[in-house]
Amino acid sequence: MEEHEVYPVVGSEGFTRLVAAFYRQVPDDDVLGSMYPADDLAGAEQRLRDFLIYRFGGPPLYIEQRGHPRLRMRHAQFPIGQVARDRWIQLMHRALDEAAFPDEVQNLLRAFFAAMATFMINRSEN
Ligand code: HEM
Repeated sequence: MEEHEVYPVVGSEGFTRLVAAFYRQVPDDDVLGSMYPADDLAGAEQRLRDFLIYRFGGPPLYIEQRGHPRLRMRHAQFPIGQVARDRWIQLMHRALDEAAFPDEVQNLLRAFFAAMATFMINRSEN
């Protein structure tokens, strides 16, 4: 399966469910909770959802609203070490389990998130 083939399988509905399941865990998370904007979690949810839809073959809403992703740069303001990276992945894996996508999609998304989350690390301390 290729990346652009994911959207036709899961659709906007699938990404909406995935990202909602991820963000449901964020506010109470002791590592990540304080990094996210408490007053704009719905906005944060929409940004991640639109990005994933665009990235995996759906309409480019993210680009229209936010421009080029430059995700490493956009994450520079958040202190992301190994602990935050691993926690983000843990929450996303739970969300993926809940979304129950076909195995091929699960595997592709897990590999993508793992690589991207490592790329986002911007400090050597935890
Ligand atoms: C490694 C751990 C990560 C942490 C701690 C983290 C944290 C954050 C935080 C605090 C925000 C701001 C929320 C907002 O207002 O939009 C954000 C935004 C965002 N994150 Fe992450 N993130 C991580 C990994 C990732 C990964 C792996 C991806 C992609 C698969 C990703 C995609 C995004 C996107 C698309 C945005 C919105 C950027 C924008 O348009 O401003 N993040 N992240």
